[in-house]
Amino acid sequence: MRINIAIDGPSAAGKSTIAKILCEKLGYVHLDTGAMYRCTALKAIRTGIPLNDEAKVVEMLEDTDIVLTPDGKVILDGEDVSKAIREDDISMGASDVSKLQFVRKELVKRQQKMAEAKGFIMDGRDIGTVVLKDAELKIYMTASAHARAVRRYLQNKEEGIETSDVATLEKEIEARDYQDMHREFSPLVKADDAIEIDTSDLTIDEVVAKIYDLAKPYLEK
Ligand code: DC
Repeated sequence: MRINIAIDGPSAAGKSTIAKILCEKLGYVHLDTGAMYRCTALKAIRTGIPLNDEAKVVEMLEDTDIVLTPDGKVILDGEDVSKAIREDDISMGASDVSKLQFVRKELVKRQQKMAEAKGFIMDGRDIGTVVLKDAELKIYMTASAHARAVRRYLQNKEEGIETSDVATLEKEIEARDYQDMHREFSPLVKADDAIEIDTSDLTIDEVVAKIYDLAKPYLEK
């Protein structure tokens, strides 16, 4: 049977990388919900809307089209912003707008609609706790802040994205973790029924194999 898989965890824990590979293996579609918060921040910054002005950001969203294509592109109002949304300042901006209750409400509604059919791997911060509470399999993926900073650094370099050094990235990651875990609405927490995987000392293949093994009993049903 086809299922939905929720993957939550702090930034740069490997959620998207693992989700993409698993999707290829399973013939599923990856939905990166962080990209939607990033698009919201990018458009607000570009149009001069303060990221803490909830009413204006929500009004902007009403007239904002965000498409996550099956091949992994992020299209904002018709423009491919896949690269632009990965810049460091947009990361913190995304965390800022994700604190806003009505921004979350709107994006969660869109995410739930996207995953109405089964066969999705959705990653974010509140997927197992809010967006897909009934997902058959929930993973909570973590890794040390240092391991995540090193990974983000290498990923930025590889993708030709302007990047800070590892120490700065580590500080930014810790600041973002704190903000995402302590916000008032839908903070990052492990769902009671999620399975925790610490990826600090695991290879990508090992993490993929672990989740695949957890999904297998459902797939065979
Ligand atoms: O996964 P990411 O780093 O691209 O996410 C960017 C920010 O968006 C992150 O700091 C927290 C927020 N976010 C969220 O609050 N809920 C989600 N489901 C996904 C991301």
